[in-house]
Amino acid sequence: MQLDKKFPILLPLSIIGVVLISGCTDPVSTITKILQQIQPDQEIVRNFDAAQIERGYATYLKNCSVCHGPNGEATPDWRKPLENGRYPPPPLDDSAHAWHHSTEELKRFILNGGPPGEGRMPGWEGVLTEQEIDDILVWIKSLWSDEVYEAWYRRIENKEPYTSK
Ligand code: HEC
Repeated sequence: MQLDKKFPILLPLSIIGVVLISGCTDPVSTITKILQQIQPDQEIVRNFDAAQIERGYATYLKNCSVCHGPNGEATPDWRKPLENGRYPPPPLDDSAHAWHHSTEELKRFILNGGPPGEGRMPGWEGVLTEQEIDDILVWIKSLWSDEVYEAWYRRIENKEPYTSK
């Protein structure tokens, strides 16, 4: 995966973040809160629980791998539309867009499935527990490279304003 191709996507996202923040009634305290959460030079490490990753992977293999591939890699042609004009299931590793969404968004998407009438991703509410989905999400994040995980953690999960280092 090449980060330089992805960063142009992050910039507009960060600008939206900044606009949202400056639109708040109390921008200073919002920014202070964000800064308290992440120090710019703080090292981002994944302290994932190995047992949780394993549980997540087992649940993934049973329910998701049929569409998203045994390792979240999907099919090499996932960018090519099918005959019906829709796209094959995307990879969930860091080669596609899964990492452009916060944990909250990913969880909601998995619970609800694709947009009604359009998507082909089934919803998992009532089939999997929230804990099982959390486990799968930890497994998915364990697939991402350190660079992607850090970019995701800073810009997407914590909406840290863009800074050129
Ligand atoms: C029947 C095939 C199918 C199964 C099974 C399936 N998915 Fe999907 N998934 C899709 C498709 C297709 C999409 C693209 C959106 C759409 O068309 O609904 C998608 C999209 C996603 C996305 C959003 C990715 C992005 O780039 O934004 C996530 C996350 C995801 N799936 C996770 C899962 C998880 C976790 C499971 C198992 C619990 C699962 N999927 C099972 C077909 C499937």
